[in-house]
Amino acid sequence: MNLEAGAIETVIVLAAGDGTRMKSNQAKVLHTVAGRSLLGHVLTAVNYLDPKEIRIVVGAGRESVEAHIAEIAPAAFTIFQEKRDGTGHAAQLALAGKKVSGTVLVLAGDTPMLTGLSLARFLEAHVVGGFVASVLTAEHPDPTGYGRIIRDENGELLRIVEEGDASDEEKFIFEINSGVYAFEGTELVRAIAKLDKANAQGELYLTDVIGILKSEGASIAAIMIEDFTEILGVNDRIQLAESAALLRDRINESWMREGVTMIDPTTTWIDSTAQLSSDVIVHPGSAILGATTIATGAVIGPRTTLTDCLVHKGASVLESVAVDAVIGEGAIVGPFTYLRHGTVLHNFTKAGAFVEIKNSTVGAGSKVPHLSYVGDATIGEGTNIGAATIFVNYDGVDKHRTHVGDHVRIGSDTMLVAPLTIGDGAYTAAGSVITEDIPAGAIGVGRARQRNVLSWVMRKRAGTQSAKAAEASEKKG
Ligand code: UD1
Ligand code: MG
Repeated sequence: MNLEAGAIETVIVLAAGDGTRMKSNQAKVLHTVAGRSLLGHVLTAVNYLDPKEIRIVVGAGRESVEAHIAEIAPAAFTIFQEKRDGTGHAAQLALAGKKVSGTVLVLAGDTPMLTGLSLARFLEAHVVGGFVASVLTAEHPDPTGYGRIIRDENGELLRIVEEGDASDEEKFIFEINSGVYAFEGTELVRAIAKLDKANAQGELYLTDVIGILKSEGASIAAIMIEDFTEILGVNDRIQLAESAALLRDRINESWMREGVTMIDPTTTWIDSTAQLSSDVIVHPGSAILGATTIATGAVIGPRTTLTDCLVHKGASVLESVAVDAVIGEGAIVGPFTYLRHGTVLHNFTKAGAFVEIKNSTVGAGSKVPHLSYVGDATIGEGTNIGAATIFVNYDGVDKHRTHVGDHVRIGSDTMLVAPLTIGDGAYTAAGSVITEDIPAGAIGVGRARQRNVLSWVMRKRAGTQSAKAAEASEKKG
């Protein structure tokens, strides 16, 4: 690649459109695929070029789009397009009052599949060819809705015609405009002032700049990309789903190349922000979302959703949901486990079936095997939490913490009413409601003593199957 870092002076991203076809209250460019907004994907590709300046035109949903930009690209400038008068108008505003020199890259905020590498290759071809303007194009099997590339008999780019303005013949052209352009900055500023609205949509089309420059005799180029899926634009929910599926396949294929086993890539959804390692196995129906990181040898799924989790090596997470949780080396989670924010499972722990854990630390080798809720707790090492234990952390107003020591044995069906401290090596009797601290080595018994009322069934339930069975049993002695 001849392109040097910072070789691009200005990148303009058009993201003001109303996105009418999305039929959404949310600005189109904020809709997400693979864990990033459409705009976020475009800016990720743009960042690969390391441009000197990024200018983003915002309009529809201005406040939320600007807030999003402040978060993901704080160095970018935003320009407000109050009235959406077309892509040409948006680009005019981005350039207004600015001294432009060097190469200007213009692209739309709704093409999430574009990669930085393809942008760099496109720019290299533009710069090496010495063109005044270049358009990135592709052959699309269904070009409906896109601007078509009109070439002359020598195959040279003449102009771009929009769907609504295209003749029946032109609609049969399969080469489409990606909406990505490179311009010699001063020429762009000059030509863009000449746009008019004499077209089907009554808008200023940025695409017309190409025809204007060509008619002036400038050297312009249509540079075709091989993989048309990279330039797919998202204008409605169908295209949103198509892009999501294509990105899913792209992400999955790249992880498989890195040594991840995927039993069924078509039902495995990994965000572009997640990190996996070689020899991870992902079973069907799993989603690995957000900033999740999974270490080698971990087994995920089937039907598991991990969001912003850290999974250490060799852990297994089966049929479970975890959010903002750390799962230690060799830990076993699931099936049907819900790990919520602030859960830290240390090495070789277990969180079994129908267990919910929140804001709690489980020490190395400790187990919460069945049917429990653990909230706001610190559990030491080598401890066993009996089936159906509940950490009663909420008094109706405030949340309280429970501290459980090392090698503790909490009996089944214990209610641990916080705040509470259970000492090292302590036990609780099954079925206890524990409201007071238990010192190390003691057993806490918090339940009524059992009494048996003999022959109660024969007297109070005479004639029932139970009474008959009891009488027969008595006769047998
Ligand atoms: C545009 C191109 C079309 C190309 C296609 C590729 C024009 C006239 N047409 O069509 O040739 O094939 O992209 O995806 O440029 N925007 C603004 N302000 C506006 C209007 C649009 O900022 O006033 C932004 C939108 O937010 C969007 C981008 O410009 O990110 C493109 O607009 P959109 O309405 O999606 O244009 P397309 O019909 O897709
Ligand atoms: Mg579009």
